[in-house]
Amino acid sequence: MKIAVIGFGYWGPNLVRNFSNIQDCSVEYVCDFRAERLDIVKKLYPSVKTSSDLDAVLNDTNIDAVVIATPVFTHFEIAKKALRKGKNVLIEKPLTSSSVQAIELYEISQKAKKLLMVDHTFLYTGAVQKMKQLIAEEIIGNLKYFDSTRINLGLFQPDINVLWDLAPHDISILNYLINDTPYSVNATGVSHTNNKIENIAYLTVNYKSGFIAHFNCSWTSPVKLRTMLIGGDKKMLLFNDLEPTEKIKIYDTGFDHKTDEEKLRILVDYRVGDVFIPKIDSKEALFGMASDFIYCIKNNAKPLSDFQSGLNVIKILEASQQSIKQNGKEIILN
Ligand SMILES: NC(=O)c1ccc[n+]([C@@H]2O[C@H](COP(=O)([O-])OP(=O)(O)OC[C@H]3O[C@@H](n4cnc5c(N)ncnc54)[C@H](O)[C@@H]3O)[C@@H](O)[C@H]2O)c1
Repeated sequence: MKIAVIGFGYWGPNLVRNFSNIQDCSVEYVCDFRAERLDIVKKLYPSVKTSSDLDAVLNDTNIDAVVIATPVFTHFEIAKKALRKGKNVLIEKPLTSSSVQAIELYEISQKAKKLLMVDHTFLYTGAVQKMKQLIAEEIIGNLKYFDSTRINLGLFQPDINVLWDLAPHDISILNYLINDTPYSVNATGVSHTNNKIENIAYLTVNYKSGFIAHFNCSWTSPVKLRTMLIGGDKKMLLFNDLEPTEKIKIYDTGFDHKTDEEKLRILVDYRVGDVFIPKIDSKEALFGMASDFIYCIKNNAKPLSDFQSGLNVIKILEASQQSIKQNGKEIILN
């Protein structure tokens, strides 16, 4: 399996390293506009060809698959070209800038009988796999809420707001873990620069069942926080991705309630019990994602982080954008 990686900025090097470590897979090309980035490739991987000419790379019939790690606004055009040249395509999150673009790519991929996949890296982490297992085994109970915080002094992106930049990780985790269909979103945000691109945003995803999910994303925080709380009626779970080993803690915490005899007030009975720290797999998630891409091409299989997972994330991001522009108005998802 011969692949080309397009974009060797911040994230591209991680993809090149992981794809190079997969047996029966070789990184043939790295393509980037910037000569200084290609110089780094030549130094680190002397056998990998470098090019600043995307069309020349895509015209090479030896290339089976293309991995796109360029800014979001370029994903659609690059992927469309690659699919039309008969390549399998992996696109970094978020899949595209709109659901219309995503669906068009999918249709092209179906016609060409090529794989179109998105990199939602977190789905391949030991922590998310452990959370999936704990939920499936009903350790957490009936799920009530999901509350995620992803804030730091982040790089202001020129083309997308903070939700499009950071929330794809958390939304993809939400959609993977929660076996329920989101109904609507409300979002608010603010831009502290003059380009109207929000650097702080708060997103709520509502479900008809009463389950609720909330996301706090910021590029403007003095501290880095990467936490996620998932509350159920049996247990509550904290995922702290900055913890080196004890990333997940399960709290035997909860409450029962009943209404008093005169039905005047709710009587709440709290439970605060033990905390359990499960062991989680520490293998590099990106290697798992890259291996899934190669395996699914070879075996005509469906990846964990498939097109639908990419589209579902984009639909929530699009609705959040509409809501932000209307001061938090509820937007119904379709
Ligand atoms: N999965 C993750 O955890 C993760 C983490 C970081 C970034 N990302 C995603 O990776 C993608 C890239 O992000 P980044 O932070 O590496 O961006 P970046 O700006 O650091 O790098 C992008 C590179 O692409 C090159 N480029 C742009 N257009 C090109 C084109 N048409 N042809 C060839 N090269 C081109 C640029 O010169 C640059 O070197 C984004 O979609 C981002 O959301 C994913």
